[in-house]
Amino acid sequence: MQNLSAQKFPPAHYAASRGRILIVDDEVHAREALSTLLEEDGYEVRNAPDGFKALGVLREWECDLLVTDLRMPVMDGLELIKKARVEFPKLTCVVMTAFGSVENAVKAMKSGAEDYLSKPLNFDEVELVIARAMERTQLRTELDRLRQGSAGETTKTQMIGNSMPMQKLKSMIDQVATSRATVLITGESGTGKELVARLVHERSDRADKPFVRLHCSALAETLLESELFGHEKGAFTGAANQRKGRFEEANGGTLFLDEIGEISQSIQVKLLRFLQEREFERVGGNQTISVDVRIIAATNRDLEAEVRSGRFREDLYYRLNVIHLNTPPLRVRRSDIAPLASHLVAKHARRNGKDIKEISPEVLATICQYDWPGNVRELENTVERAVVLATGSRIESSQLSDNFGQQHFVPNDEIRIPGSTLEDIERYAILETYEATGGNSAETSRILGISVRKVQYKLKEYRD
Ligand SMILES: Nc1ncnc2c1ncn2[C@@H]1O[C@H](COP(=O)(O)OP(=O)(O)OP(=O)(O)O)[C@@H](O)[C@H]1O
Ligand SMILES: [Mg+2]
Repeated sequence: MQNLSAQKFPPAHYAASRGRILIVDDEVHAREALSTLLEEDGYEVRNAPDGFKALGVLREWECDLLVTDLRMPVMDGLELIKKARVEFPKLTCVVMTAFGSVENAVKAMKSGAEDYLSKPLNFDEVELVIARAMERTQLRTELDRLRQGSAGETTKTQMIGNSMPMQKLKSMIDQVATSRATVLITGESGTGKELVARLVHERSDRADKPFVRLHCSALAETLLESELFGHEKGAFTGAANQRKGRFEEANGGTLFLDEIGEISQSIQVKLLRFLQEREFERVGGNQTISVDVRIIAATNRDLEAEVRSGRFREDLYYRLNVIHLNTPPLRVRRSDIAPLASHLVAKHARRNGKDIKEISPEVLATICQYDWPGNVRELENTVERAVVLATGSRIESSQLSDNFGQQHFVPNDEIRIPGSTLEDIERYAILETYEATGGNSAETSRILGISVRKVQYKLKEYRD
């Protein structure tokens, strides 16, 4: 760990937007025209063609106001509002309905919409209704903030788990949060990398500034570049307006680059320059922009191996890896499984409006022995499914999927001597030692007197 002292950067020329709006309409011209209008009014705008895609955007992009059409394929506006209000209770929703269909508007207001616009849209009315709705959202957020402030130190993100590796991780997070140093988070899929990134942000003095997340592998190279750095009007076909990138969006706050292992060589070069100089240009632009952004990157790839094979720049790796946090797999911290499961049951019971109080002892025993190759995400999916299927106030075995955990049991207390094969004993010894060392294969190899390669090879075999 080095370079923990926060450096000062010139306050950037950053005009805060009036708020974020997601527009949902299956008709492309309608949503683009409205997007342009609202962008010109100073809002940050995204759009989506149906409810299903809109939910995807909402999960990725924290937004203030949802403006949706009612009749759409895949998932209509009413359903979208209902779902969105459950997942994002603070989101304000406005619906657009055909002129005269007051009935629909009333239905929408009952489902949680705050206001409606009649189509064809009258732009003065749009501006008024949107400004009013946005004001309400901001008031609500402000109230929330005040309440949280008076309730003491509460953060939005909760990280459950008191196993040794998690205690270490938590204390690392507290130590590094306050600096501006770049953080690299590694760990298997579903172990909580994004959660850790959010915690680092929330515990930093940037907490009231934006936390912006970008999933690097989801975008093609050219798109990724303009998403990161923004673009000028006319920079490429389709760039009808100037657009700010995520770096500018995150100004003053944190930019979380997820799946960093997937970025191309040319983006690697541009990112390196940013990390060295804290400056960049928008695509197609020549004005140099400087912002104050903390970078947190995550990957489930072995970046060192990527560096060795030449796919990932070594200099960039060192720039990212100033502070390294690793999220341990769930199978090396089994004591976290039960508390995590209870937390997830409560979370999904709340979302699904169910009153579930506990998990049956059989289910608990089953899930505590399972290997969880998909880690907390897999546990969460299993719990969510069980919650949805649950009929009483307790999660029962019948609510676990039929083929649940068939291949991944660790023969924990099945080891009997005589009675167990050498292979089972070896497996038991390796897994238990690995867990006891907090997932450290070098330490495991030292204790067991076998090579690191063998430990890793065996772990992989148990996992597959
Ligand atoms: N310690 C934890 N306490 C509570 N919830 C957790 C914890 N770890 C993970 N989760 C939850 O599990 C899910 C997966 O976590 P997250 O998305 O952070 O994992 P990830 O490592 O980024 O996964 P991937 O590599 O697949 O992107 C999320 O819903 C997250 O909130
Ligand atoms: Mg992730």
